[in-house]
Amino acid sequence: MNILHSGHPLTRIGLGVTGGIAAYKAAELTRLWVKRGLSVQVLMTEAATRFVTPTTFQALSGKPVFTDLWDARPANAMGHIELGREVDALVVAPASANFLARLAQGFTDDLLSTVCLARECPLLVAPAMNRQMWANPATQRNVARLRDDGVVFLGPAWGDQACGEVGEGRMLEAEEIVAAVEFWAQPKILAGRRVLLTAGPTFEAIDPVRGITNLSSGKMGYALARAAAQAGAEVTLVSGPVGLPTPAGVQRIDVRSAADMLAAVEDVSARSEIFIAVAAVADYTPTAPLPEKLKKSTVALQLELMPTVDILARIAAGSNPPFCVGFAAESERVLEFAEAKRRRKKLPLIIANNARDAIGSDDNEVTLLDAAGAHALPRLPKEALARRLIEEIARRYLAVRGAAPDRGTP
Ligand SMILES: Cc1cc2nc3c(=O)[nH]c(=O)nc-3n(C[C@H](O)[C@H](O)[C@H](O)COP(=O)(O)O)c2cc1C
Repeated sequence: MNILHSGHPLTRIGLGVTGGIAAYKAAELTRLWVKRGLSVQVLMTEAATRFVTPTTFQALSGKPVFTDLWDARPANAMGHIELGREVDALVVAPASANFLARLAQGFTDDLLSTVCLARECPLLVAPAMNRQMWANPATQRNVARLRDDGVVFLGPAWGDQACGEVGEGRMLEAEEIVAAVEFWAQPKILAGRRVLLTAGPTFEAIDPVRGITNLSSGKMGYALARAAAQAGAEVTLVSGPVGLPTPAGVQRIDVRSAADMLAAVEDVSARSEIFIAVAAVADYTPTAPLPEKLKKSTVALQLELMPTVDILARIAAGSNPPFCVGFAAESERVLEFAEAKRRRKKLPLIIANNARDAIGSDDNEVTLLDAAGAHALPRLPKEALARRLIEEIARRYLAVRGAAPDRGTP
């Protein structure tokens, strides 16, 4: 059993809830997973039912909740065996100090601990307890033993605790657990590879307070950066001005203009194996930005613009370029213009989408164009699309560049 990394898509999750204040966060966790289309089977310890009722989890998961080893509902009364076989992963959140101790010892004196022992799937735990309970040598012994047994720990985090103290021991927030489980479940197809991405718009100054920009939200580039990191890559994201949080594990370099973006990309691309250019880089920039704020006037204003450097074409034309992937957002004859762009810039792969559809929206429909032809993907939310695209990019990259990293270490 490969417990550290499943590498399989998760569709069915067993959620074990134990007795701690953070049990209320498990309700939100259930809601988030169900919203993502996962099936969630909740199992609670008797202590957990004193914090949140099984009815809450039943309503959120749409499934009966199991709490009792002697429950006769599962066919042949073997719930303690079956429940652990019907899920792709078992996540215990919150995991109390008591539960970790029982798990470390292999106790099977209630339903959840028995299912944990009888399971065939990976087990992940999100501890939640007072900082002294977490730091106690007994707990730390149990944690070390469980890690040795292949149990995956999600957190705990440092911060304010329900008891009023501050320290390490609080459970991760529900969104953080969702992200951590997704991260853990991704096959690490880009382990050891360095991936450089650009994202967002650029801002070309007219004067100190005004400029030319575009409607790119950065969502697609950020989702790709996250997916690349989840696939095990070392990711650098050169970002134009956007209000998005930096994805976990991604190194972000903030830039403003096309010229700044070019400088950052040239610096990092030499030590990157894959370059994915998602940013909507300005094609033109004011020739002479004004040093002082332009005064309002009644006469027409003439602005002289000059072309910017095409960042992707520049990198792709280098002597030993990374595997370069472009994005083409076109508003007409999308595939034809995208393929022409791919050939002109000598790219192994370009991802074509409709500019009207794609910019700023939460989902997208794209077609991959490479030397073998066109390959359309279904419309997907940008996060799911990003994971799919990273798989497609990695497969093509590995096919042409082989199994070993092809650039020297920085
Ligand atoms: C109000 C209250 C809050 C508690 N919060 C926690 C907690 O956050 N973490 C923890 O490990 N134990 C906590 N406990 C203690 C556990 O509920 C207790 O150890 C219980 O036996 C755990 O049972 P279980 O592991 O079977 O769920 C709390 C107890 C009470 C009364």
